[in-house]
Amino acid sequence: MQDQRVPGSKTAAIASSASSASSASSAPDAILETHRLVKEFNGFVAVDGVSLCVRRGDIHALIGPNGAGKTTLFNLLTKFLQPSSGEILFRGENITRRAPAEIARGGIARSFQISAVFPNLTALENVRVALQRALGTSFYFWRSGKSLARLDERAMHLLGEVGLVGRALTPAADLAYGSKRALELATTLALEPELMLLDEPTQGMGHEDVARVTGLIRAVSAGRTVLMVEHNMKVVSTIADNISVLQRGRVIADGPYAEVARNPQVIEAYMGTEATALADGAGIPPAGTP
Ligand SMILES: Nc1ncnc2c1ncn2[C@@H]1O[C@H](COP(=O)(O)OP(=O)(O)O)[C@@H](O)[C@H]1O
Ligand SMILES: [Mg+2]
Repeated sequence: MQDQRVPGSKTAAIASSASSASSASSAPDAILETHRLVKEFNGFVAVDGVSLCVRRGDIHALIGPNGAGKTTLFNLLTKFLQPSSGEILFRGENITRRAPAEIARGGIARSFQISAVFPNLTALENVRVALQRALGTSFYFWRSGKSLARLDERAMHLLGEVGLVGRALTPAADLAYGSKRALELATTLALEPELMLLDEPTQGMGHEDVARVTGLIRAVSAGRTVLMVEHNMKVVSTIADNISVLQRGRVIADGPYAEVARNPQVIEAYMGTEATALADGAGIPPAGTP
């Protein structure tokens, strides 16, 4: 499989002329692409030639058994890890060699696993801190009273997006688990990301919180792109526009849920009860359930 380009690659290649000649973009509506991405740990290949295409505006789910390489792939995308080989394109631009801070400023934000919530600050204060951080220390305009009021206004708006207006003055430590996660999401939104990476947003949650966070992800995905690792097939089948299935570091299937769930290789990868769950969309029990 030397050439994985699909029809339409020529137009995309023109649009991505800023990137190197070897990294022609394969889809005009792609916001994020990886080309044959590899990550090796002392001879063990955790990510093995992954070519991914995330379309702008989609909720794209990354699924696969434990140890498939999902978190490693996320770490490559946020530049927490450097790939052994391959390329990452964001908005058609080659970002493979960019620094993590540059990536965050450039519009890719990760939420949930790396928590940015300070327990002793209220929900409002947490979002305000995130906003100030997003603005950077070199920006002074928020120091004036008027700008501070505007900052609070923006923070309240973000709390509204995640349904936490009523808890604005509650210390983060006193929020219920689902609300804490909603707050984390609000602090991520403060960065105004074009692409949000969510690693197992419903992990360890009960049914109610799962439903709430699923609804939240759908709500905040409006006008944004979401790439999420998710184990709960009910969640995936409900909100994902597209799914990539990873197994032993490789993508074994790509497409909408109905298509992927019928793929024999995918069913095999999810043997037993999980295959049944995959086929009828009934959902794998929430993570943490024995
Ligand atoms: N820093 C590391 N050093 C060595 N092996 C690692 C490292 N990080 C992950 N791995 C290995 O890579 C594989 C994929 O891990 P991971 O990406 O965490 O999988 P997933 O998130 O899909 O469960 C696993 O076998 C894991 O043990
Ligand atoms: Mg993981």
